[in-house]
Amino acid sequence: MKHILAAIATLLAVGAAFIVYKSDSEVHKIDEINKVIAKSQVKVNLGNDVTETQQKIETASNEEVEKEQAKKKKELDDKLSALKSKAGNMAAFKVSPLYKQKCASCHGVNGGGIIGPKLIGKSAGEIHQALTDFKSGKRKNYVMYGLLSKMDEEQLKALSDEIGSFEQKLKAYQQQ
Ligand code: HEC
Repeated sequence: MKHILAAIATLLAVGAAFIVYKSDSEVHKIDEINKVIAKSQVKVNLGNDVTETQQKIETASNEEVEKEQAKKKKELDDKLSALKSKAGNMAAFKVSPLYKQKCASCHGVNGGGIIGPKLIGKSAGEIHQALTDFKSGKRKNYVMYGLLSKMDEEQLKALSDEIGSFEQKLKAYQQQ
């Protein structure tokens, strides 16, 4: 009986020792795990660095994107202002009521020319000469003659001076 008890006690002792050993190794394992965690924290920190670098890269590429967008916007703006100045060619700057009523229908609202030839770019002198010649019949054109025959010299002069200033006016208009 005693032997049996002794045997059980020994077994228990061995078992306890084993458990202690086991838990010891558990503790050891936990240590290991902690070490691994510590290491991985270093890694996580490294990871932060990586994220920062990535962010930097992203910011850089954002800047690139912004630059690209700014470039595109500028291109669009340029196109738009080109269109605007084209439209400016089409659209009227302010002209006298006389030109608007009598001449614009054929020569364009700003002398660009429609049925009648382009007048813009001609000097006041050239225009005046042409008008005088049409009126006198030296230069034969039924339409122009018909129109100018009812106009006095003052009107011819005013129209010539006005048309002569069209190019300048258009430039000023397009720069707005
Ligand atoms: C119904 C259409 C019509 C109207 C309106 C008209 N013109 Fe003309 N005009 C013409 C035509 C067409 C010619 C070309 C005649 C030619 O070269 O023989 C012309 C030629 C001219 C020319 C000579 C251009 C050149 O290149 O030698 C002048 C300047 C001119 N017109 C000014 C005027 C003025 C100013 C008015 C308004 C008072 C006017 N025209 C109204 C049709 C018109």
